[in-house]
Amino acid sequence: MRVHIADHPLITHKLTVLRDQRTPSPVFRQLTEELVTLLAYEATRNVRVAPVEIQTPVTTTMGVRIDEPRPIVVPILRAGLGMLEGMVKLLPTAEVGFLGMVRDEETLQPTTYAERLPTDLSDRQCFVLDPMLATGGSLGAAMEFLFERGAQDITAICLLGTPEGIAKIDEQVGDRDVTLVLGARDERLNERGYIVPGLGDAGDRLYGTV
Ligand code: URA
Repeated sequence: MRVHIADHPLITHKLTVLRDQRTPSPVFRQLTEELVTLLAYEATRNVRVAPVEIQTPVTTTMGVRIDEPRPIVVPILRAGLGMLEGMVKLLPTAEVGFLGMVRDEETLQPTTYAERLPTDLSDRQCFVLDPMLATGGSLGAAMEFLFERGAQDITAICLLGTPEGIAKIDEQVGDRDVTLVLGARDERLNERGYIVPGLGDAGDRLYGTV
């Protein structure tokens, strides 16, 4: 598994404001969108393109366009939805699928409660959006779901991750083609399954349910 951890002052600045508990939901949503667009730039580094000939006002030249079949963006509900706009801003021709995962707050185990995805993902580049890679449970379960539909090329974008979560995904995916793009690798997971220092519950902060 390839892991890319952003190392850019603009990303760290925006993450700092995001982490601050005084940051209200509208600002939190806006910053999440901006951060995802910046992370998507790195995450799409290997997006498949096809050569195309075009005519400029001056001459004919070769360029590229995003290849068919279109990449698919999969936000994990609910908090991944807050990352969707930032992603499709950079990849407007992508198809969007949905996967609803919920974490049992007692057992911390993820279950799928909704899905809207093509049945065959074998030739699709999949971009999974999940803001918080904590235990790795939900993201791991989401990836298993995509593997079962034939996915062979998955990139996950997370705002924050823990060493535990990264290690869990790494072990789970083995030698499959998976890339993880993170805004930052935080210190650890606490006993309640929260990322430390983290930013709290991303869904609550996005949607104002604190
Ligand atoms: N999910 C969140 O929203 N926040 C955490 O810290 C961990 C999981």
